Amino acid sequence: MQFKTLSILTAATAALSAPIEARDAQQYSLQASIGPGATGLKPLQLHGNNIVYGLTQGYSDFRAEDDGDIIKLFAAGYPGLSLDVAQDGELTFKSPPEPKEGFTFKGDGNVQDLEFNGSQEFYSCADKILGPLHPQVVYVKTGDKYECENPVKFTIAATKQ
Ligand SMILES: *[C@@H]1O[C@H](CO)[C@@H](O)[C@H](O)[C@H]1NC(C)=O
Repeated sequence: MQFKTLSILTAATAALSAPIEARDAQQYSLQASIGPGATGLKPLQLHGNNIVYGLTQGYSDFRAEDDGDIIKLFAAGYPGLSLDVAQDGELTFKSPPEPKEGFTFKGDGNVQDLEFNGSQEFYSCADKILGPLHPQVVYVKTGDKYECENPVKFTIAATKQ
């Protein structure tokens, strides 16, 4: 608890003392890598309170930025956001941004793999409430089970911008 409070304070202080000029922190676009080739890459999207992919309307594109303790998300029309994971593994986001342990970008090239708690296995399920006609909701697999019967399995490619 002590540590968490401290890191929020540190983040706030860092934000206040950040210079006005453009910062050059690394930004990434995130894509579900579902099949081979470019057509198998589905950009992750914000939709309501979920992170989804495959929508052709009613969504927002976003960029992710690794700020050490926080993975910040930037999307037009949204306030400051940070990437989060619910207890069941569902990928979500928070506002205002909060530190979240467990995320790393793995690899040396322009395209890296998003990892959470040591897992690069992500999957998606039909929305539990809205059903199969709605976009797939994205989860990270950290345990030994999936949250639905027929998950779509993939990794998440993080491409440097
Ligand atoms: C990730 O790891 C942390 C620390 O070990 C644990 O508390 C948390 O439940 C894990 N999250 C998921 C979604 O498995």
